[in-house]
Amino acid sequence: MGTSLPESGRDWPTLKAEMVERGSGDAKWRDGKTAVYVFNAGDDVAQVQKEAYALYMSENGLGPLAFPSLRRMEDEVIGMALSLLHGPEDAAGAMTSGGTDSITMAVKAARDYARAERGLKAAGNLVIPRSAHPAFDKAAHMMDIEVRRVPVGEDLLADVPAMADAIDDGTIMLVGSAPCFPYGLIDDIAALSAIAGERELWLHVDACVGGFIAPFVRMNGSELPPFDFELPGVSSMSADLHKYGYCAKGASTVLFRSAGRYQHMPFDFGDWPGGRMLTPTLAGTRPGGAIAAAWAVMNFLGETGYQAKHRQVTNAREVVERGVRELGFEVLGAPQLGITAFSHPDADVIAVYKHMFRKGWFAGLTMEPKALHLMLSPVHERVTDLYLTDLADALRQANDQESDDGFEARYS
Ligand SMILES: Cc1ncc(COP(=O)(O)O)c(C=O)c1O
Repeated sequence: MGTSLPESGRDWPTLKAEMVERGSGDAKWRDGKTAVYVFNAGDDVAQVQKEAYALYMSENGLGPLAFPSLRRMEDEVIGMALSLLHGPEDAAGAMTSGGTDSITMAVKAARDYARAERGLKAAGNLVIPRSAHPAFDKAAHMMDIEVRRVPVGEDLLADVPAMADAIDDGTIMLVGSAPCFPYGLIDDIAALSAIAGERELWLHVDACVGGFIAPFVRMNGSELPPFDFELPGVSSMSADLHKYGYCAKGASTVLFRSAGRYQHMPFDFGDWPGGRMLTPTLAGTRPGGAIAAAWAVMNFLGETGYQAKHRQVTNAREVVERGVRELGFEVLGAPQLGITAFSHPDADVIAVYKHMFRKGWFAGLTMEPKALHLMLSPVHERVTDLYLTDLADALRQANDQESDDGFEARYS
């Protein structure tokens, strides 16, 4: 408690100044020293996000009759996503507020499909790799579904034979990540697709991180394994616009191989005084700004724009990986997109992390095994030298057991 609504308001310039001041202690993402939470594709993209969002900030995607403009933009965003991810002719999808929302809706659709098509009576279970995002557990928790997290193999990828062993009559969904968050590695989706085909199971590919970068990394010349609807066993995918699609936050896509699978997602209800309410996703009100900004950024960048931005990301990753190896770190697996994680056989990486934090860097940590984690953006291409210089110093400080109390002061 302690805060209450002020009796009278203050003017906007005063408030704005206060808000800017409050942000001064936040992670320094504008200068490229943050490699988690924020995707910084540069000022040109930020301006498009901001202006497009503001143009449709008050409109509501809940009302497609009132706002056919938003419906058209959403349809086009979904069309662009499906065309990038090899959606077949009959594929369908919707925009959601983010990856967790997309995953939740895919789980709901898979469960209702299992009930309708297979007569599933029990709550059912999900068979997922240990590296899959907790959004699956959150969705399962809300729907009382069991989650079977299967340990990854030594290569840190989904252990497909072990996942096959975990399947039973109650399994409503298999999951693979493209890529997973902790390591940035793409699971063997082709092998999962084969199992989904044999056992007639719903395979969801979580491409929240990879959906809007992997197709362009491939166009840029890298050999990536198949991971999307080109594999016949893939029933649904999640792909976030607000990550490597560089769109404003509050924007993701949930995609289905066919209209028949999609139809298990929407909620159609009319038994109340307000009349029929049909909503495709978890949201009621759907922020027009997020839809409009996504449409604008995708059309602003186009294929060549995304290729160029993503080349900066993969360049940054390659430079960082070379540099950290020279410092004795070991990159976990062979990342191909924008996430990389690296452990150190001799150093305490948590201590290294704390020293990097004190130098102004904010990034992630992987826990199994303990590793520094970066989710890179185009702007990072220009700070790789600074990062590696600071990392060399942080490693020395950790090895010398220098105090890292700046970190504790903030997080205690
Ligand atoms: C692989 C993966 N899936 C899903 C999510 C959840 O996305 P959101 O934070 O937009 O809900 C994330 C978030 O980082 C992710 O990395």
